Amino acid sequence: MAKVKSKYVCQNCGYETAGYLGKCPECGSWGSFVEEIDAPSAKSENEILDSNPPMKLSQIEMNSEIRLSTNISEFDRVLGGGIVQGSLILIAGDPGIGKSTILLQTSGELCNAGKKVLYVSAEESASQVKLRAERLGVKSDNLYIYPQTNLELIKKNIEALKPDLVIVDSIQAIYTSQIQSSAGSVSQIRECCNSLMGTAKSENISIIVIGHVTKEGNIAGPKVLEHMVDTVIQFEGDKYKTYRILRSIKNRFGNTSEVGIFEMGAKGLKEVLNPSQLFLKEYSQTQTPGSTIIVTNEGTRPLLVEIQALVGTTPYPAPRRVANGVDTGRVLQILAVLEKRIGLNLSKQDVYVNVIGGIDVDEPAADLGIALAIVTCVRDVVFDLSTAIVGELGLSGEIRAVNHIEKRITEAQKLGFKRIIIPDANDVQEKFEGIEVIKIRRILEAITKGITK
Ligand SMILES: Nc1ncnc2c1ncn2[C@@H]1O[C@H](COP(=O)(O)OP(=O)(O)OP(=O)(O)O)[C@@H](O)[C@H]1O
Ligand SMILES: [Mg+2]
Repeated sequence: MAKVKSKYVCQNCGYETAGYLGKCPECGSWGSFVEEIDAPSAKSENEILDSNPPMKLSQIEMNSEIRLSTNISEFDRVLGGGIVQGSLILIAGDPGIGKSTILLQTSGELCNAGKKVLYVSAEESASQVKLRAERLGVKSDNLYIYPQTNLELIKKNIEALKPDLVIVDSIQAIYTSQIQSSAGSVSQIRECCNSLMGTAKSENISIIVIGHVTKEGNIAGPKVLEHMVDTVIQFEGDKYKTYRILRSIKNRFGNTSEVGIFEMGAKGLKEVLNPSQLFLKEYSQTQTPGSTIIVTNEGTRPLLVEIQALVGTTPYPAPRRVANGVDTGRVLQILAVLEKRIGLNLSKQDVYVNVIGGIDVDEPAADLGIALAIVTCVRDVVFDLSTAIVGELGLSGEIRAVNHIEKRITEAQKLGFKRIIIPDANDVQEKFEGIEVIKIRRILEAITKGITK
């Protein structure tokens, strides 16, 4: 085994030390030290063969991109149309969110389509995987389950079996004998990922690795892990609800910020093809002052979600502002605009804003919906049940244009909304039937047009 030397490097400023430090003496950040290994190179410079000399762009022969369809359309959508052959994909998510479930289901679908899949189960025994497979109704002789944690053995079997897809569950549980540190350490994760990347490219086999998420919600392991792989997919969801969201946060072969929505059940994850309906299920029954419907954009897909606001007199010296699913800074800005532009006095009021369904809305197009939810709660009036809202709120109370307006209107129309409030600045060419498009310039207009009682 090669002799290795380790050092600890601050990920913030690059300060190096021989032992671990809690606080960086250079930049003062806490918990930023990560172990780095200096492994001596096995080959000298003269031994390394330059098999890929520099080439002119015109000389490069292009291989057409081959994609494996998972047969799960929501998953394909997030991947940008399927798994690209020879790519390394990282799926990260909280414990118990359903990472193993979706990948076992995907394996089943691919095997049914005649592909060979190797499922490396580093965390669970073969019988545990079989138990899950039975529950999910996955059965195929093309699916190989391999309970193994040693990377060298895993690679040997990949080369021998030549599967179309390899799943490694999880990257934190495997180790390479090249490094002495224990499985799950930063250097192990980095080396294993690097080595798997090499196998994916040289054997032209797609590999999906599962990654755990830390308490803070980051992918456990060095940030470089995200840079190394071709695609990073985050598996999110509300632990107390049944639906789960797959979100692409990096994709070398497709659109990012694309989402796929699933519902978790005893038979595994089921695609939700009409997610707006899912998010609006309880809306008509719970229509109260302080709730509005906005049309947000998730990737390329419009989604209708309910925003709720609660405003009440504060018992504290400083009023509280709590936002779930939207940025608190954004809510503070909206509150400032409401105070200044329409004279809403909120200085002695607590304000709570919540996006129903545990989904995160991070685009400014939600501003107007949030503002109207707050206004209707303060005034104790109900916003028209059949009106959807889109628009960004400017600091002077003006409503600014949003992107993909026609797609948003179509989605609201599809779900039976009778009216939609949009910014006047948006140029809408298409004619829509069955839905009245109301264009507004200022926040006050939206209030007068949408409040029914
Ligand atoms: N019989 C069942 N009926 C319904 N849902 C179930 C059933 N068994 C498991 N689940 C769901 O599956 C989830 C666990 O899925 P899975 O093992 O795929 O998660 P994971 O992300 O791989 O977890 P880990 O991080 O522990 O590996 C549970 O949290 C639960 O929601
Ligand atoms: Mg698992």
